[in-house]
Amino acid sequence: MVVNKAPMGWNTWNTFGPNINEKIIMEAADAMVEKGLLDAGYEYLVIDDCWSLKQRDPVTRRLVADPVKFPNGMKAVADYIHSKGLKFGMYSCAGVRTCGDYPGSFDHEFIDAETFAEFGIDFLKYDYCYRSSSTTGPILYHRMANALRATSRDIVFSACNWGKDDVYSWIRSTGAHLYRSTGDILDNFPRVKELATSQFDKQCYNTPGCYNDMDMLTVGMFGKGHAGTEGCTINDYKIQFGLWCMLGSPLILGCDIRNIDDESLKLIKNEHLIAINQDIEGRQTFQISSKSWSCHDAAIFVRKLENGDFALGMFNFADRAATVVAMFDEVGYPANCGLKFELTDCFTGEKSICDSDSLSLYIESRGTRIYRVKPVKR
Ligand code: GAL
Repeated sequence: MVVNKAPMGWNTWNTFGPNINEKIIMEAADAMVEKGLLDAGYEYLVIDDCWSLKQRDPVTRRLVADPVKFPNGMKAVADYIHSKGLKFGMYSCAGVRTCGDYPGSFDHEFIDAETFAEFGIDFLKYDYCYRSSSTTGPILYHRMANALRATSRDIVFSACNWGKDDVYSWIRSTGAHLYRSTGDILDNFPRVKELATSQFDKQCYNTPGCYNDMDMLTVGMFGKGHAGTEGCTINDYKIQFGLWCMLGSPLILGCDIRNIDDESLKLIKNEHLIAINQDIEGRQTFQISSKSWSCHDAAIFVRKLENGDFALGMFNFADRAATVVAMFDEVGYPANCGLKFELTDCFTGEKSICDSDSLSLYIESRGTRIYRVKPVKR
């Protein structure tokens, strides 16, 4: 199965942790449609850990949905999600138990894949806790990938081993379509920055068909919910969403979308940024240096886009405002190229022209500017 673009959706974990149930899922499905998220591209609704009973069915050895949380069973949940035009995702683990201490799929991969297919899932997130020492990580991901491929459904396989065991070097061979490259996100700026920067030198591994997943977004959480912690500001969320879009990470929302505030909603539906993330050419993002004596904590990324434009993302992570300078020569446009640059500000939609060999911007503390750039004849 080919997955042409980094998957987009919503997952229960950041906000609800273990406290999930049918009502929350159905309300989230309603919200994804009513708030225009499905139209913006967010199509997967994923139930994370803690959905099953603590033990398998003693006779069939199958996983069983918790009847208190899901009184009508998982098929009914899947049917509801599908009736909304959404796709349905679930969670299991390569280990003996899941991270939340529910039964994992170890040694039950094929029967679990069958169960998931019968539920009607379209996406499986596959975690890495309580891994048996009797085998290796690659074999465990091969097993579940093969089990999913043996079902009659197209199921996106979302590996989640937090970047361990040099996952970059082997995950693509297993059949996974996305792979978590980081530990768990928390809703605070230092943690978000830590996760993103850990992937700055790993962009060569993010390829069409198998995407580097930097974890679920915290945009809109403002400190509330399971991964809440101190919370972020809306400007922090602009940096976060901008980085995830520029670096081509899957965009899996984690806030309580039923009650999301207007600014966060506008941000996650930003068409310019989503277009960069979902660009069909799937080019590797590259980093250029920031030519500025005043800023020691900035990053500039470039991503070439399918129509000949490129995206330019300039990030100031520092605690003070700074001038950040991008040199077009480093993008491969020398001063003698005979081109100037039409800029579209991805946050405001404003257009401007840059007829120079560099773009120099004064960016506030923890701020970002992202442009779609069209090189045109001078
Ligand atoms: C972690 C995983 C989280 C979440 C959690 C559930 O290992 O990284 O995203 O799935 O387990 O217990």
